[in-house]
Amino acid sequence: MGVVASAPAKVILFGEHFVVYGEPAVVLAIDRRAYAKVENRDDKRLYLRSVDLGLAGYFENGAFKIEQGDLREAIMRFEPVRLAVEKILEKRGKKEGLNIEINSTVPVAAGLGSSAAVVAAVTTAVGALLGVKVSKEDIFRITYESEKIVHGTPSGIDPTISTFGGALIFQMDTGFKALEVKTDVPLVIGNTGIERSTRFQVEKVREVRERYPQVADPIMRAAREIVLRAIEALKENDLKTLGELMNINHALLYAVGVSDESLEWLINAARTAGALGAKLTGAGGGGCMIALARNEKLAQVLESIQRAGGRPFAAKKTDEGAKVEGT
Ligand code: MEV
Repeated sequence: MGVVASAPAKVILFGEHFVVYGEPAVVLAIDRRAYAKVENRDDKRLYLRSVDLGLAGYFENGAFKIEQGDLREAIMRFEPVRLAVEKILEKRGKKEGLNIEINSTVPVAAGLGSSAAVVAAVTTAVGALLGVKVSKEDIFRITYESEKIVHGTPSGIDPTISTFGGALIFQMDTGFKALEVKTDVPLVIGNTGIERSTRFQVEKVREVRERYPQVADPIMRAAREIVLRAIEALKENDLKTLGELMNINHALLYAVGVSDESLEWLINAARTAGALGAKLTGAGGGGCMIALARNEKLAQVLESIQRAGGRPFAAKKTDEGAKVEGT
């Protein structure tokens, strides 16, 4: 018998980077998901296969054996999964062999939270297969801890949104609050295809803050005002205001040095094609941009981003967090 579970990817709609310094951010779960299929094994191996990344191998007695793909990449991708599985097995109090097959529709290393979505899906599926009671809180905590050890997650945004879904306001000191959003928030996500390091990008902003505190502080305050105004616009279903605020938010991110040429091309292409607003999302320096567009303009925006060299796809908010899909 096997269990399939899934968890969503995310976009940061407003407030990335500034969130690291205590400002609020708005995060949406999107309808791109990672899927994990888990089955029992007769031996004690933890066998892992990522269909989309072409990686496979197994952990046995603390060692990893590669069967398909690059060893270093496999360890990097599979280590958080192993840690999460171990936590569930600890809860169960018995060692088990498992086959885990991961199928993700989320581009990796693109700022969309693909690795948290994978770990949240695996945690949910393993818990269900082994009959271990795992609450949403448990899924969040296990995903957060597993990710933190490997990636050094500064804020915990990704594990939260992959676990709970929907829309959230996040602030470092107060944590997460669900945000009621009536609209679907029709987005086009444009992947530059350039992989970037979140750590490096966060460091860039820290340097700007240290060198120019009097310049950076008003930028941070402006970012907070954008988020507060955006929360109202989301509640009122006011897409026009949301688009304008996205443009201003992007200008602030540009100011602190986290955009790059690849993102600027795609953002300009989206705006020219009639998007209401466009900005980078996540850490920047490559990765993804998002454009907000009315439904009648979505196709044009998609095409324009593609012509500008990006890999675009349409996405909407989803309220479905980590969940069991079936057995
Ligand atoms: C990265 O997806 C978002 C950042 O704000 C870092 C973080 O919040 O962890 C740049």
